[in-house]
Amino acid sequence: MAAGAAAGAWVLVFSLWGAVVGDRNVTARIGKPLVLNCRGAPKKPPQQLEWKLNTGRTEAWKVLSPQGGPWDSVARVLPNGSLLLPAVGIQDEGTFRCRAKSRNGKETRSTYQVRVYQIPGKPEIVDPASELMAGVPNKVGTCLSKGGYPAGTLNWHLDGKPLIPDGKGVSVQEETRRHPETGLFTLQSELMVTPARGGAPHPTFSCSFSPGLPRRRALHTAPIQLSVWEPVPLEVQLVVEPEGGTVAPGGTVTLTCETPAQSSLQIHWIKDGVPLPLTPNPVLLLSEVRPQDQGTYSCVATHPSHGPQESRAVSVHIIGSLEGQGLRTVALALGILGGLGIAALLIGAIIWQRQRRQGEERKAPEHQEEEEEEREELNQSEEPEAAEGSAAGP
Ligand SMILES: *[C@@H]1O[C@H](CO)[C@@H](O)[C@H](O)[C@H]1NC(C)=O
Ligand SMILES: *[C@@H]1O[C@H](CO)[C@@H](O)[C@H](O)[C@H]1NC(C)=O
Repeated sequence: MAAGAAAGAWVLVFSLWGAVVGDRNVTARIGKPLVLNCRGAPKKPPQQLEWKLNTGRTEAWKVLSPQGGPWDSVARVLPNGSLLLPAVGIQDEGTFRCRAKSRNGKETRSTYQVRVYQIPGKPEIVDPASELMAGVPNKVGTCLSKGGYPAGTLNWHLDGKPLIPDGKGVSVQEETRRHPETGLFTLQSELMVTPARGGAPHPTFSCSFSPGLPRRRALHTAPIQLSVWEPVPLEVQLVVEPEGGTVAPGGTVTLTCETPAQSSLQIHWIKDGVPLPLTPNPVLLLSEVRPQDQGTYSCVATHPSHGPQESRAVSVHIIGSLEGQGLRTVALALGILGGLGIAALLIGAIIWQRQRRQGEERKAPEHQEEEEEEREELNQSEEPEAAEGSAAGP
């Protein structure tokens, strides 16, 4: 009972001492040696000191034997009383304590909280976007940091200022993986942003890795500068020439896909819902149209950073094709007849006018004589018929 109380008091004193003096936080790079000094211990034997540790390698407190042993490869007490860890690993994270008595009997305790770290490779932005579209969520890229310990964090920056995910205009999707053997972390952070319309046209994004330990420098990616595309003129207009898309066989139809002048746009054509196997071109020229060119056309503008945009559909109709063939012949015949009729009328009118002019110059009787001559001619032409008729009669 008395022993228990004494132990409790000792723990209390110890924890108070710990609180007053403070533990020493030590960080060590993975794979490097670490030396922890036992404060108050004589620099040379004979020494009265004890090292104990509670780390990832131990189940509880483990007292290290000054004589060495199987733990030598992990941690061993040096002649000057310090503890050497030849190559620290993740399992060496924990608490190390030394209790030493000086030559004059004064006891000193040292406590170290050991944390280990590994500096990851320079973070990088993989699959960066080439352009962003204002008003809609865009994937900017994925920031990747490999081989760090502890995990740390990835942070995005816009024009040098931290970009705080708000779930609306800015969102990140993070993933942390741990190497099964080394225990090192791979972090990735995919950034999605919705640039404001009319905002900065050329934002610069960068990403940084912040180590999980204090007083360690952040690592930055190379910045990427992107162009923001305003969607206002994005509408894809399809212009057909001649207007209405109606053309005679053998004629020409020009279909023009009008889009905002963006070099990265690719224009494809669709006829009756089927993509046409043509190289991307904003102009589709149908020359010497045949009945099979008839149909419904639309164009699709494809942009690398967002989905394709299809224009309205325009139908191309060929007059006189297929069942219209007969109608065309009739129209042609009517046209020829009409033309002939007009020509006849014109000739008639000219003759009539010339005759009127002649009539005014001559006397009326002469005119009558002419008419009589014409009648005689007609009579003459009728006579042989009459003769034939009479001859055939009996
Ligand atoms: C050591 O680190 C802990 C957290 O890991 C912190 O609370 C404490 O203040 C640190 N002590 C010193 C002396 O820096
Ligand atoms: C003890 O020796 C080691 C290695 O020689 C050295 O790094 C360390 O600083 C020494 N400790 C003291 C308290 O002098």
